Amino acid sequence: MIYRTLGRTGLQVSLVSYGSGGPSKLGQNTGLTSNDQDRLIHRCIDAGVNLFDTSEAYGDSEAILARGLKGAPRDSYVLATKCRYLDRGGVMRTPEDIARSIENSLVRLQVDCVDILQFHVFNSRHYFDVVEQHYPVLKRFQEQGKIRFIGFSEQFMVEHDHKGVVLALETHPELWDVIQLKYGILNQSAAWKALPLAIEHNVGIVNMAAVRIKLVRPELLRDQVAEWKREGLVPQNAVPDDDPLGWLIHDDVDSVISAGYKFAADHPGISTVLTGTSSIPHLEDNLKAMEEPALVEHDKRRLQELFGEIAIYI
Ligand SMILES: NC(=O)c1ccc[n+]([C@@H]2O[C@H](COP(=O)([O-])OP(=O)(O)OC[C@H]3O[C@@H](n4cnc5c(N)ncnc54)[C@H](OP(=O)(O)O)[C@@H]3O)[C@@H](O)[C@H]2O)c1
Repeated sequence: MIYRTLGRTGLQVSLVSYGSGGPSKLGQNTGLTSNDQDRLIHRCIDAGVNLFDTSEAYGDSEAILARGLKGAPRDSYVLATKCRYLDRGGVMRTPEDIARSIENSLVRLQVDCVDILQFHVFNSRHYFDVVEQHYPVLKRFQEQGKIRFIGFSEQFMVEHDHKGVVLALETHPELWDVIQLKYGILNQSAAWKALPLAIEHNVGIVNMAAVRIKLVRPELLRDQVAEWKREGLVPQNAVPDDDPLGWLIHDDVDSVISAGYKFAADHPGISTVLTGTSSIPHLEDNLKAMEEPALVEHDKRRLQELFGEIAIYI
């Protein structure tokens, strides 16, 4: 396993980290039994994965992780969780709600201290309200020793241009130790401003949802590239219609998914790449893909030329 420093936290984190949300939600959505979930977590630990990401919003993931991690020394892994800043009706939660949310996460995770507490799906629209009303609550928990570092995960589905991340890093870089954002073959826009700013301010970047969903679903990938061709964003003959990324498969790259994780890991601003798989065979593939993270330079450059300017349109 490769380890990288998570920005100014100084934490040494595994390049492959485990995400308990996404479409699979630690097997809650894919029919895993409790034993299967425990086996998956144990396999992560055995492989050297030391960062586990979760949220109050991922069903029972916090409690499942706590069960799976039982027995592992607390200082052998980094636990990251998240709290929502909006209620289900889209209204700002109160500072008391935020405090209760964190206390509840600590109980479900069965720990006295969580390493990274992140505002979940943060966007620029609520940025100043959250900084003013909710950030002081996290600061108080940090002073009490219940949180080590503070961050947020972006709302990529809404802000494809990483507007929230850029706003945060241009306005108050000192407030944010860790940021979770999406960067991948079809979503390269973080490389424009967000990742350079993170490097400048030594903010730890956790790459989320790097392959979901179009790189794992060939029909969606085909449709996406066909749409870009129709819109003139990708030249007609640049890649084949039926298998647009098949040319990436050669030498030690055995699938488009493997290429996706490799690309996701290959940026100097990225410390770790979450994988949200619920399958041990898939986990093995993903670990292998990131053992030797880089694509060959020629393929990486071709991906940047093909998609580097258009990720914003997804
Ligand atoms: N805004 C946010 O806060 C936010 C948003 C998104 C994600 N996240 C975090 O980031 C984590 C990672 O995102 P994600 O779960 O979307 O991760 P991902 O690793 O990009 O994608 C996971 C999906 O890809 C499939 N997959 C993974 N490896 C595969 C392989 N080798 N072969 C075939 N299919 C494969 C999984 O299915 P299988 O289970 O069948 O393998 C699952 O459907 C989340 O779990 C969550 O912790 C945070």
